[in-house]
Amino acid sequence: MAIGSFLAELVSFRDAAAAALGGIADEAALEQARIEFLGARSGRLKSIQKLLAGLAPADRPAGGRHFNEAKAAVTALFSGVQERLAAGAAAPVAAGIDVTLPGEAVRFGHIHPITQTIRRVQEIMARLGFESVDGPEVEDQWHNFEALAIPAEHPARDPLDNFYLAVARGADPLLLRSQTSTVQIRVMESRRPPLRIVSLGRVYRPDTADATHYPMFHQVEGLLIEPGTTMAHLKSVLRQLAASFLGGDVHVRFRPSFFPFTEPSVEFDMEWGGRWIEMGGAGMVDPAVLSAVGYDPERVSGFAFGLGVERIAARRYGVADIRDFYRNDVRFLRQF
Ligand code: FA5
Repeated sequence: MAIGSFLAELVSFRDAAAAALGGIADEAALEQARIEFLGARSGRLKSIQKLLAGLAPADRPAGGRHFNEAKAAVTALFSGVQERLAAGAAAPVAAGIDVTLPGEAVRFGHIHPITQTIRRVQEIMARLGFESVDGPEVEDQWHNFEALAIPAEHPARDPLDNFYLAVARGADPLLLRSQTSTVQIRVMESRRPPLRIVSLGRVYRPDTADATHYPMFHQVEGLLIEPGTTMAHLKSVLRQLAASFLGGDVHVRFRPSFFPFTEPSVEFDMEWGGRWIEMGGAGMVDPAVLSAVGYDPERVSGFAFGLGVERIAARRYGVADIRDFYRNDVRFLRQF
């Protein structure tokens, strides 16, 4: 036998013994391994010893020396495991770990800027007495449209403007909600006034992605139903929200608009750092909506508003393109 092959046998013997010993957790397993590797009759070391005789006479001294080294090394490994077991440390020690080498630094992640924004808005609204509630992302026609006074022929229900689900439920297909106003309905159906709720969540529209649009985005929905509520209350809640979120002096302005579920309706802009930006829609809850949920419009009134989370996050963080929030580029996300 060539000395090279003999040495290779020794190396694989040492590796196999080290691997087997690393996982040993009790005396019985250790004894099993001892018999397999060092057993005097048919252990693997014994078989290698027999190969020594097949080496060329000139190679035998070197072969013997390597053989003894391997035997000593593996015997020492066995003693080490024996000591470990005796000391009651049953946890396996992986062979070959050098504890003096520097470790791998743990990389901490952090919360996504959109989630940070959501939590911040929830916090601010909680201070104004608004409770955070959730609603489903897969909705029916009643909650996404009907109860919000958006009738069957309304263009907002067009299949090209919504993500309807293929699993149609008879005449009442389901869709991914296109606005969080659905949550207003769900809450009003199950509770009596007074109400102050805020709901933040994902909504879906087949909009082409650009710097200010994404087909999946988040909205903040606010609803307040209390006696004597007016548009002035709405404006001051929005101003408080804007000032707390953006910091400093923020102005809010209303522009007349139309939503089927509010009357009057407005779009509202915020001015911060010398620039007006469009934030969302709002208004006094339409009497038709109050009736749809079983409230008496003669006795209760309130306001509702909805705004885009990506838009306010972009403003707050100075991000020019909301698509950046979803590119999953850690170099971008790490900044927030
Ligand atoms: C609504 O969705 C109404 N539900 C808001 C509302 C609530 C009005 C309560 C009255 C009472 P609108 O479709 O305008 O309104 O969307 C509201 C905001 O969502 C927009 O101002 C914008 O900030 C944001 N938004 C709309 N489409 C996108 C989009 N594709 N990507 C990112 N943000 C969007």
